[in-house]
Formats: sequence, C-alpha cells, structure tokens
Amino acid sequence: MKKKTAFFCQSCGYESSKWMGQCPACHEWNTMVEETVTKSSGSTNDRIKNSIDAPRVRPATLASIEMVSEDKITSGIGELDRVLGGGIVKGSMLLVGGDPGIGKSTLLLQVCRNVSGAGHEILYVSGEESLKQIKMRAVRLGDFTDNLKLVSETNLDTITDIIINTKPEMVVIDSIQTMFNETIQGAPGSVAQVRETTGVLLKIAKTLGISIFIIGHVTKEGAVAGPRVLEHMVDTVLYFEGDTKGAYRILRGVKNRFGSTDEIGVFEMNEQGLREVKNPSEFMLSGRPENASGSVVTCCMEGSRPLLVEIQALVCDTNFGFPRRQATGTDYNRVNLLMAVLEKRVGMRLSNSDAYVNIAGGMKINEPSLDLGIVMAVASSFRNRPIDESMICFGEVGLSGEVRAVSQVAQRVSEAERLGFKTVVLPEASLSSVKASDKIKLIGVKNLVDAMELI
Ligand SMILES: Nc1ncnc2c1ncn2[C@@H]1O[C@H](COP(=O)(O)OP(=O)(O)OP(=O)(O)O)[C@@H](O)[C@H]1O
Ligand SMILES: [Mg+2]
Repeated sequence: MKKKTAFFCQSCGYESSKWMGQCPACHEWNTMVEETVTKSSGSTNDRIKNSIDAPRVRPATLASIEMVSEDKITSGIGELDRVLGGGIVKGSMLLVGGDPGIGKSTLLLQVCRNVSGAGHEILYVSGEESLKQIKMRAVRLGDFTDNLKLVSETNLDTITDIIINTKPEMVVIDSIQTMFNETIQGAPGSVAQVRETTGVLLKIAKTLGISIFIIGHVTKEGAVAGPRVLEHMVDTVLYFEGDTKGAYRILRGVKNRFGSTDEIGVFEMNEQGLREVKNPSEFMLSGRPENASGSVVTCCMEGSRPLLVEIQALVCDTNFGFPRRQATGTDYNRVNLLMAVLEKRVGMRLSNSDAYVNIAGGMKINEPSLDLGIVMAVASSFRNRPIDESMICFGEVGLSGEVRAVSQVAQRVSEAERLGFKTVVLPEASLSSVKASDKIKLIGVKNLVDAMELI
C-alpha cells in the first residue's frame, strides 16, 4: 500500500501537497496540518459487499425504481419531523450539529426512545460517554424498550462489524469527531479521519438501507467541525441552536435532500429532556414588559409558520464622541442602516445616541419584514414613549423611508389575532392581500413619517 502525506486545512478541508501559512480556499491562517493519505484498504468495503449479495451494477430507468410511501419513519417528535420534511428517510444520513451542551445527545436519545418504542431496531453508538452516563440520561427521559441497543465504542471497524451483524434499522453515532479508522493516520477529529469515517458510514447507510444520524461538534464560528465536505456527503444537515442558558432550543434544517430547509422546530429543555413547543409565539412573548418604551412586537415567518417576537431597543446619549451600536439576534449593519434612514427621512437626531437592539428570547432573525419593528422600537425608545401593547407591526423599510410590501400577510395577521392583538400596522401595499375582520384593526402605512405618528 502506498503511503503519502498531504496538508489539509482543518477548517475547510482544502488539500495541498505543501505546507502553507494561509489556506488559499478559506483564507484562514495556520490551519494546514500534515496528515497521511492512505488509500482505503478495502476491508470495510469488502465486508459490506460480502454481507449482501452485491448485484452487478446496471443503470435503471426511473419507472423501474420502486418507491414505497412508508420509506419515512416518524421520529415521534412533531417538531423534528417538520424540519425533516415528514420523517426519517430510510437509508439516509443525517448530520446534527450544535454547540456543546445544547442537547444533541438528548434529542437523539429521545428519537431512539420513540422509534424503538414503535418497534424498530436501533443501535446507539457513543464515543463520548460511558454506558452508565447514557443510562443516567435515559432515566430522565422515560421508558425505553429492548429494541434499543447501546455501545460505547470509537473504533470504526468494530462498529461496522456490529452494524453488519445486527442490521439495525437506525444507527446514531455520537459523535463523528470521536470515531477513528485504524487504516487512516491522524487523531480522531482530524479532517482525514472525519472524512473517511463518514465515507464508510455513508456506504453502510446506502447499501444496507440503514438511517444513520451523526452528531457533529461545531467550531467557534458555528460550522460543523471538520471539512465542509462532511455537509456535502450527508443527505440532511440540522443545526441545534439557542442559548444554552435560556430554556428554549431551535432546530434548523440547513440542508435537506427530502424537504424544505425553511422549517424550524422549537424545543424547551427541562428535567424530562426536550419538550416540543407547539406555540412558539406565546413562548417568545412570555415575560414581556408592560408599558415600556422601546418594546414592540413583530411577526416574522419561519418557513410556513408565523412567529411573533418582541424587538427591544434602548437608545441613550453617548458618552464617547463615537456612538455605540449593538444588535443581538439580528443584523448589525441592517440596524445601522435603518437608523440612518430614521435620521435622514424622519429627522430624528440619532447621531449622538448609543443604540442597542435586541430580539427578546434569543432568536436570530434576518428577515426584511423585521425592519419596521426595529425602526418603531428605536423611535419609541428615543422619544421615550411606549407603543400600544396590543399592537404589532411588520414591513420592509426602503432607503427613502418607504414601507414596502412583504409576503404571507394573511398568516401574520391571523397569528396576531390568535394571540389577542388588536391592531396590526403593515405596509399599505399589503393591505389588499388581507381580508378585513372586525376583531383586528389594520393600519396601512406608506412611509416612516406615517408610522411615527403611531408612537
Ligand atoms: N436534570 C436536568 N434538568 C434540566 N436540564 C438538564 C438536566 N440535565 C441536563 N440538562 C440539560 O441538558 C444539556 C446537556 O444535554 P446533552 O448532553 O444532550 O448535550 P450535547 O449537545 O449532547 O452536549 P455535548 O456536546 O457535550 O455532547 C445540559 O446543558 C442541560 O441544559
Ligand atoms: Mg452529547
């Protein structure tokens, strides 16, 4: 077997024959690390091949490919199924990434509980925790059936053997960064190891029709550690995010070969594990201050679901010559731009004020319809006048101070109505796309000057 070494960028997986200070692909410094490149010995491949009667590869027509509708297994968690586009597709490979301690293992153990409870065989491989630790978590989560088998192992060959011998319907690998393949040199978690182990697991998933969940750690920047290549290999990439200190967590699809990636799932972490939050709007608005300036409720769309969130702004005199601006949960540059629009089009003197804008509840939203809410919150705080608590507003703000139409207006309005709001401030151009109702008052605004009259 021929051995050679190459340099891999630990951040993006770029391969080079010589060392470089800066990666030419992702421009990160000091990320090139030498790793041995070995052609796969084929042992794993052989074992997979031997375990099934490998048919001779023959191109197929679309019509000849059988598709059964029950190819999707429900995870038993509605919010997860929504993100997955209906359920877990048989033979698919799913990557779940997220910050340390966010609840990745908890989520997947809960999936294991539900799916094994429905009579499917599952293998849970943990390279991070001992069986006792998993047991402790499982006790918190409830009752498990014997369809779930656990193993604490990091050697990929051993794991492959177990999978081939027991042929479970689903496998969970916790986490891919702890797995190693003896034929590849390099520590577990290195680019070469992560890529090779994922490759082997992918082969198992596709040839044996086993759904494989892999848990991946994320880097400081929030991407799954290891090469980007990992995200290309798998069918679905999910990110579990949220504030580890706050109770709620959001599961977001970043890539999905079987469904849309707009949907999010909202969970709450408690003693019994992760609980689905069926009514995220109510959850996000709980604890809203009464009669406070700088607080306004807006409605954004998360996939097909409207979500009400509170925007808070605090505007105060600057102590330095240079005003401080800060945005949490939304785009900093967008906040600066909107404040410039307020200054120029409404004549609000904000250049001597610090401004802090925050999406309460820790959500991260970058939707243009948020603009009007941000502007209203900033103006309300600047003038120190509270906004009517039973009012919500949404709309995109243009550079000339015009309020532009947004999509899915009817859903937004009905969500506001459902939660008992009395007034909706929306772009005038969007008024035509929603039916008037006597329960809720609609106020169309053309530009920021109109909107400011409401404060
Ligand atoms: N008894 C409990 N009550 C409430 N929440 C708990 C309890 N025990 C653990 N948690 C929550 O579960 C989280 C850990 O979950 P889990 O181990 O699934 O995270 P993880 O994403 O797998 O972490 P890691 O990256 O370390 O593997 C903790 O951060 C804590 O918020
Ligand atoms: Mg874990």
